[in-house]
Amino acid sequence: MSEAIRSFVAVEISDGARRQIAELLGRLRREPCPAVRWVKPELMHLTLAFLGEVSQDFLDAAKTRLSEVARQRGAFMAQLRGLGAFPSPSRARVVWIGTDRGEGEVCALQKDVVKALCSVGYQPERRPFSPHLTIGRLRVPDDMGKVAATQFESEPFRIERVVLFRSVLASSGPVYTTLAEFPLAGQTT
Ligand code: 2AM
Repeated sequence: MSEAIRSFVAVEISDGARRQIAELLGRLRREPCPAVRWVKPELMHLTLAFLGEVSQDFLDAAKTRLSEVARQRGAFMAQLRGLGAFPSPSRARVVWIGTDRGEGEVCALQKDVVKALCSVGYQPERRPFSPHLTIGRLRVPDDMGKVAATQFESEPFRIERVVLFRSVLASSGPVYTTLAEFPLAGQTT
């Protein structure tokens, strides 16, 4: 049997937004905070679908469908704004930054991506999609109310492609590599 490949589909943020988030994390790290493992800004992305461990055959079929989806949707402008926490700020496990501009487009793209993946055998998540950029994780849920109330706004940036990533879990953290990129159609919406 072929090797199982842990993978997910996402859209990337701009280098400028990564720099702004790095500055934000610098400020948050100075505050006395529960034990949060902050995500390295270079690893941050907006996940559209987590595929888990899948076969090369599945990925080949998924790539064909994803390129069709991307061709049918235009590139668009997005902006990140505001912090929050899952499942709640008082018992947080995940700290995230939300989307503002472009949120409708991200949700529409995610819907198309999931539909395309389902046509090749993907089992979608049951919980509703909530676009977010994970910036921190807690092993033990804790109160992140103050952090979740922090103001943040990124630069506006253009989302131009859907990316299929491989994720390899290492002891030093996950390593993401690009398996394929699917350019969105050229027009800005
Ligand atoms: P997150 O932003 O919600 O943490 C790669 O692991 C990406 O896939 C992560 O950014 C993560 O999104 C997402 N993902 C969704 N479900 C996952 C799961 N069950 N296990 C690991 N990652 C998952």
